[in-house]
Amino acid sequence: MELKIAPVTESFAAEASGLDLRQPIGAETASEIEEAMNKYAVLVWRDQPLDDDQHMAFTKWFGPLDMGLLNVTKKPNRFKHAGFVDIANVGIDGEIMARDHSTVTSSMANRFWHTDSSFMQTVAIYSLLSARVVPETGGDTEFTDMRAAWDTLPDDLRTMVTGLVGEHHPLYSRILLGNTYSDEQMASIPPAHWPLVRTHPGSGRRYLFTPIHVHRIEGMSMAEARVLVNELIEHATQPQFVHRHRWQAGDLVMWDNRCTLHRGRRFDYTQRRDLRRTTTMEDPAGA
Ligand code: OGA
Ligand code: MN
Repeated sequence: MELKIAPVTESFAAEASGLDLRQPIGAETASEIEEAMNKYAVLVWRDQPLDDDQHMAFTKWFGPLDMGLLNVTKKPNRFKHAGFVDIANVGIDGEIMARDHSTVTSSMANRFWHTDSSFMQTVAIYSLLSARVVPETGGDTEFTDMRAAWDTLPDDLRTMVTGLVGEHHPLYSRILLGNTYSDEQMASIPPAHWPLVRTHPGSGRRYLFTPIHVHRIEGMSMAEARVLVNELIEHATQPQFVHRHRWQAGDLVMWDNRCTLHRGRRFDYTQRRDLRRTTTMEDPAGA
């Protein structure tokens, strides 16, 4: 079997096929997939009905697992593997949760343009999101190309953002949802700091790194920082940079958290939507 890549656009998003991801793929094929990821940043695989073990085994070809906040929240999960992030409106008991359940409402932070784990001071690389059950309509996921966003950024904005450092905090998107936290609670989770302009190692291309998690920019007033992030996200999410994925059960979508943003779209919360995610990270030891 051989990896096949059908690009959606010349440099962003592609449909991948030709492999059975339930089987061990081998290091050579993993490098071919990485090569395609370096070019397209989002790969869509159809008809890959993975179980959790297969999903985890496939993930591990691409580096150590990023645990995001899983080790901080320590919430019990539905899965055998601790490294799964539950992207579902389904409780531990397997029932659909009420739309005002705190797990459902805090997952609505995924509907802002974000990237996974940018609030960690480790580099999240790929997320792999597998669809088990999807609603009849709605619940699409959109991806945007932050390298194209940089390439097309007006010169005055390029000059303004170069050298700036953003502070990413995991609770900020929840604050936007209406949650309130004490200074003590905010301080109990350390933020992460990343330049607003970075270089993607696998392609050498520059990209804007301005997910919703940026709540401050060093040396700038909070007000100016927030309108700037808003303006940059607005620029980056113009329709020509966005790929929209309409889910079918059995899809697996892989994206590069460094040079893309994504967001979930609205769906009928009385319907079951069961997706599961793993995320890889750069090896902190540099191996
Ligand atoms: C995620 C995510 C959006 C969605 O899995 O990290 O943000 O459409 N998902 O559920
Ligand atoms: Mn996400």
